[in-house]
Amino acid sequence: MQLSVKSLSKSFGAHRVLQDISIDLPKVQGLVLIGPSGGGKSTLLRILAGLEYPDAGCGGVVFNGKQIDFEHEDALVAHRRRVGTVFQAYNLFPHFTALQNVTLPLVQVHGHSPADADVIAMESLQRFQLEAHARKKPAELSGGQRQRVAIARAIAIKPSLLFFDEPTSALDPEMTGEVLEVIEELKDEGRDFVLVTHEMGFARRVAGEVALLADGRIVESAPAAQVFENPQNEVTKRFLAKILKY
Ligand SMILES: Nc1ncnc2c1ncn2[C@@H]1O[C@H](COP(=O)(O)OP(=O)(O)OP(=O)(O)O)[C@@H](O)[C@H]1O
Ligand SMILES: [Mg+2]
Repeated sequence: MQLSVKSLSKSFGAHRVLQDISIDLPKVQGLVLIGPSGGGKSTLLRILAGLEYPDAGCGGVVFNGKQIDFEHEDALVAHRRRVGTVFQAYNLFPHFTALQNVTLPLVQVHGHSPADADVIAMESLQRFQLEAHARKKPAELSGGQRQRVAIARAIAIKPSLLFFDEPTSALDPEMTGEVLEVIEELKDEGRDFVLVTHEMGFARRVAGEVALLADGRIVESAPAAQVFENPQNEVTKRFLAKILKY
């Protein structure tokens, strides 16, 4: 994907959460955002997914040559429909089965008939070995299974771009591995993605570019090998030393 962001800022009240963020990636498959808690990673990801509005730099977010139009709600809704999002807390509807969770957006947002949606949803669930769990509700699934359902839902709409915000941070190591494998598979298929994670080994393996956000600024952005082997910025060095210590 091509991604550029120009002088983007965002405040919540008096709190400047993102300050003058600029990114210029002419061609990258995966952008991974890392950095300390509260640094602005989720906020930036949500803006790129069209779920949050920037205060400044509205005109400067361009994906694959197409500017995200934050000024017009219908254009923003169209952008949201084209991307798939997976968050830390699954966001599955608890009263629906796994299958219904996947079919719901296909019918309600993408205009598929219920019968078509069932076929697409089952294919997507099968892809992640979830067919036996299709009729179960989220409470009857493990954390890893729930997160795979959330990914199956994101994929079912055939998104041009996937956003993951700490998709494994609520999971134990085995389930983390399970979900990371699924993400890596999607990467190997050639899908573009933006991922926030604290799994540094994984970040290094899948990222084209790694950007470290701290206090609302990108303090360092470079190909993964460079950031992990030869970080240039003191903030990056301290962050990696801390997170890689255990
Ligand atoms: N809706 C909101 N209203 C007010 N403040 C917010 C809102 N969302 C985020 N913030 C604040 O913005 C800052 C950045 O938050 P953000 O969630 O983007 O950080 P993060 O890098 O994702 O952190 P973490 O690693 O803990 O998930 C934090 O100080 C947070 O409290
Ligand atoms: Mg976050």
